[in-house]
Amino acid sequence: MRRLSGWKASSNGKARPGRVRVAVLSLLVGVVAACSSPPPETATGQELYSELCSSCHGAGLEGKAGPPLGPGSESATLPDSYIATTVTHGIGTMPSFKNLSGDQINKLVDFIRDVQAGQ
Ligand code: HEC
Repeated sequence: MRRLSGWKASSNGKARPGRVRVAVLSLLVGVVAACSSPPPETATGQELYSELCSSCHGAGLEGKAGPPLGPGSESATLPDSYIATTVTHGIGTMPSFKNLSGDQINKLVDFIRDVQAGQ
């Protein structure tokens, strides 16, 4: 009985570090993949928004960690160039999205404008 529980404990002790290593590795692979592969040129503004922005600005642009971008928000009163520059260069704790093409930024701005206009 005593021996059995001793064996069990050491076996658990060995298994744990391995599992942590695998978890850290897959996290790293995920982060590298997210940073190095730009979204496809064919992605729509809505797809780009839900992929890159919705986690912070909300699925419906209602705001979360980031400010709201929808109807009645400050962004609705700001020019397209302000939104484009904010996305390209980031602002405060918002990251920059330098890997987006001008066309993708335009699609994002168009999508945000459509939602602001209630479409
Ligand atoms: C990691 C969270 C995060 C992500 C992802 C993110 N943002 Fe932001 N965004 C913020 C925060 C926080 C602010 C406010 C920063 C400040 O003013 O200091 C902000 C500000 C903005 C502003 C300016 C709003 C205003 O009223 O001045 C715009 C426009 C904007 N984000 C658009 C986007 C778009 C479009 C995307 C996707 C390409 C995006 N954000 C992705 C967190 C994020």
